[in-house]
Amino acid sequence: MRYCPMDGVELPPARPTSSATTIARRLTDKQLKPLPESPSHNSTDVLIGQVLEGKYRIQSKIGQGATGAIYRAERINIGDYVAIKVLKPEFAKDQTAAERFRREALALGRIRHPNVIAIYDYFEKPSQKDEAASIFLVMELLSGTTLRDILRLEHVLNIRRTVRLMVQICSALHVAHERNVIHRDLKPENIMVEQYDRRQEMAKVIDFGLARLRLTDKLIRTLTEQGRVAGTPYYMAPEQWMDQPLDARTDIYALGVICYEMLTGRVPFNAENVMQLASKHVKLPPRPPIELRGDLPVGVSQAILKALAKNPRDRPKTTLEFADALQHGLSG
Ligand SMILES: Nc1ncnc2c1ncn2[C@@H]1O[C@H](COP(=O)(O)OP(=O)(O)O)[C@@H](O)[C@H]1O
Ligand SMILES: [Mg+2]
Repeated sequence: MRYCPMDGVELPPARPTSSATTIARRLTDKQLKPLPESPSHNSTDVLIGQVLEGKYRIQSKIGQGATGAIYRAERINIGDYVAIKVLKPEFAKDQTAAERFRREALALGRIRHPNVIAIYDYFEKPSQKDEAASIFLVMELLSGTTLRDILRLEHVLNIRRTVRLMVQICSALHVAHERNVIHRDLKPENIMVEQYDRRQEMAKVIDFGLARLRLTDKLIRTLTEQGRVAGTPYYMAPEQWMDQPLDARTDIYALGVICYEMLTGRVPFNAENVMQLASKHVKLPPRPPIELRGDLPVGVSQAILKALAKNPRDRPKTTLEFADALQHGLSG
């Protein structure tokens, strides 16, 4: 028997759906382990020292993702520094990876918000006789601390600080959603935190590579047909597991998972393999965060549980509603 985590009402038995199983199979269990995204310093990197477009001198590698590497570069004419995301050479012929880059540029071009990474430039380099084609996305350079780094170091975060950061992240996503951009890959690796001093910090949402732009539905269908799954298992909403339509509320679920993790030091669902994880996200009510952290205000715990509702209809309608619920929970 299952009970609703919100009000204890008995819930109908949920059966694992075949599509959840299909998605789980597409993901390898390897993806359950956190991907290494720490900076690597490769002195043989051919890009280091190169000047791109006559404007950007590549200095060092500062980040590594699935399909791209992030470099720090000097903007020669201005004398300041930027971050450049470069498509890895091994993905140069991969149309899906290239499309991810184009989509990220298009998504970022639509959003202007202090809590969203700013994009400055985008260019593609066709393949030449001894060089593979590549794509470059020039962005604002951040201090290099991801929310993942902070969680690794501090394990759990102060409640007020968590709410402060979540309010900023929610505000960023609200603007994205208003512009019809759904992030679809929210996780602590994709949130950077700029620290001005101990009390003032600024969250920046990055990596819109999986962002869904409503105008490019055809493109999304193509990508889905190619068997790509959007998102990272621990943060994926039930509808992502079940291959159902996604919308802003899919991002709200991921924000619920992130907030849960910031406050309790663990994600709501963990499992030995992807199949089990899929089934938990689809069927199992999460353990209320207040049970893992006694000093959590009940309102904050309830706000998180609402964001984690299995049915998108039961989640907050907008990220602003989620932010308000967290703030009221804190003061109530
Ligand atoms: N603008 C930036 N400034 C500084 N570091 C960045 C910036 N963008 C990304 N990074 C670092 O690079 C990592 C990978 O970047 P991301 O855009 O998430 O690429 P991917 O799509 O490959 O995951 C991030 O987790 C972060 O550590
Ligand atoms: Mg990323």
